[in-house]
Amino acid sequence: MSALYLYPVWLRLWHWLNAVVFFTLLATGISMHFALGWLIPFEVAVPVHNISGILLTLSWVAFLIGNAFGGNGKHYLVNIRTLPMDLVRQVRYYVYGIFVDEPHPFHVSTEHKLNALQTLSYVGVMYALMPVLIISGWAFLFSAELPETLFGFGTIWLVAMAHLLLAWMMLLFILVHLYIITTGETPTTNLKAMITGWHREGTSDEA
Ligand code: HEM
Repeated sequence: MSALYLYPVWLRLWHWLNAVVFFTLLATGISMHFALGWLIPFEVAVPVHNISGILLTLSWVAFLIGNAFGGNGKHYLVNIRTLPMDLVRQVRYYVYGIFVDEPHPFHVSTEHKLNALQTLSYVGVMYALMPVLIISGWAFLFSAELPETLFGFGTIWLVAMAHLLLAWMMLLFILVHLYIITTGETPTTNLKAMITGWHREGTSDEA
């Protein structure tokens, strides 16, 4: 049995508060997009969505600061040289190895807690998708101040399409995220780590 402390308090607090805000945005956003007034009345969904968007922005900035100064940022550095082979090994494991009980190709350590696929997806979500989602949300909030057209298209239409596309991509990320976190040594190994901070392993290697 080994135990590694991988998720400091600030990171766990950020993660779970961020998840609550994220699902609030998803529920209110879906309710407005599909006009599901019976689910969440429009006059409630709009202000709750706007306030949650502001909270998500603050949460994202807190994550950037925490990562930059809290030591966690090292897990977000992509090694371009080893990435392609690490990715191939990891994807092969997820689509084949895991089903035939192969040992996990990645070993969790305090220096490397995320495998190549996790690193790439978290970097993609936190440093690429999230900022664009947030910017498109703020653009929506201040759409009255925007020019009427941009590159020959209606600006609000462009903003709406970007916001919608990003929201769908984030929903896709969450579905994959929820599956991948269950692929640890036991289905709850990673979840317990994100709750307690401690990544505990029994006999086999896993992520
Ligand atoms: C109920 C919803 C969620 C659950 C149960 C969950 C669970 C977990 C677990 C168990 C981990 C640690 C294992 C790992 O790193 O793979 C993790 C890490 C992470 N999750 Fe989630 N998550 C949820 C929602 C979210 C949302 C909404 C986001 C962002 C939009 C998110 C972003 C992340 C990130 C960036 C990490 C890596 C943190 C780090 O170690 O630097 N999660 N999540």
